[in-house]
Amino acid sequence: MANTDTNFVILLVGPPGAGKGTQAARLAEAHELEILSTGEMLRAHIAEGTELGNNAKAIIDAGELVSDHIILEMVRGEIESRSPVRLLLDGFPRTIPQAEALDSLLGELGAPINHVFELKVDAEEIVSRLLQRGSELGRSDDTEETIRNRISVYEQQTKPLVAYYAKQHLLTEVDGLGTPDAVASRIKAGLA
Ligand code: AP5
Ligand code: MG
Repeated sequence: MANTDTNFVILLVGPPGAGKGTQAARLAEAHELEILSTGEMLRAHIAEGTELGNNAKAIIDAGELVSDHIILEMVRGEIESRSPVRLLLDGFPRTIPQAEALDSLLGELGAPINHVFELKVDAEEIVSRLLQRGSELGRSDDTEETIRNRISVYEQQTKPLVAYYAKQHLLTEVDGLGTPDAVASRIKAGLA
C-alpha cells in the first residue's frame, strides 16, 4: 500500500513513443500519484482554443519544444500548491533549464525527486508505434516527418537530462521494448 501522506515524485524521461504515458498511468494508480503531463496539458489548451494553445500548436505539429518560459508558467501553479507532493511527471522537464526550475520549486516544498526512469526504445520501434497511433487516434504530431524531428529534438535537447539526473544518483535506465507489462515490472524492480 502506498503511504499517501509522504511526498513522492517520479519522473519518466524518454523519446516520443517510449511509453511514458502508458507507464505513467500504471505507476500513478499503483502509488496514488497525480500525473502531470505537459504534452496532455498543451493538447487540452489546443482543444480549448486558449491563446497558449493557439501559440503552441504549430510548434507541437513541427515536433519542436514549446519555450521553457511558457512551460514553467503552465506547470508552476500545478506544483507549488501541493501538500503532500505526490507527482508522476510525464514529459516534463525536457530541458536543463526546466530541470533546474523544477529542482528549485521542489526544493521550496521540501519534496525532492525520488526516482527518474529513462525509458529506452530505438528509433524504428518509435516510428512504428507512433505511425500506428497516428492512424488510430489522429494525433497531429504523429506523422513520419514530425516523429523523426521529435526524436532528433529529444536527442539534442532532452537527452542531457539523463546525465543531469545520473549525477544526482536518481537515474534508472529501463529497456522500453517488450509488452507494457514487461516494462512495468522492470520499473517496479527499479523502485524496490
Ligand atoms: P508529449 O505529449 O510529451 O509527447 P512525446 O514525448 O512525443 O511522447 P508521446 O506522448 O508520443 O509518447 P509516450 O512516451 O507518452 O508513449 P505512449 O505511452 O503514448 O509532447 C508532445 C509535444 O508537446 C512535444 O513534442 C513538444 O512540442 C510539447 N511539449 C510537451 N512537454 C513539453 C515540455 N516539457 N517542454 C517543451 N515542450 C513540450 O506510447 C506511444 C504508443 O505506443 C501508444 O500507441 C502506446 O499504446 C504504444 N505503446 C506503449 N508502450 C508500448 C509497448 N511496451 N509496446 C508496444 N507499444 C507500446
Ligand atoms: Mg505521452
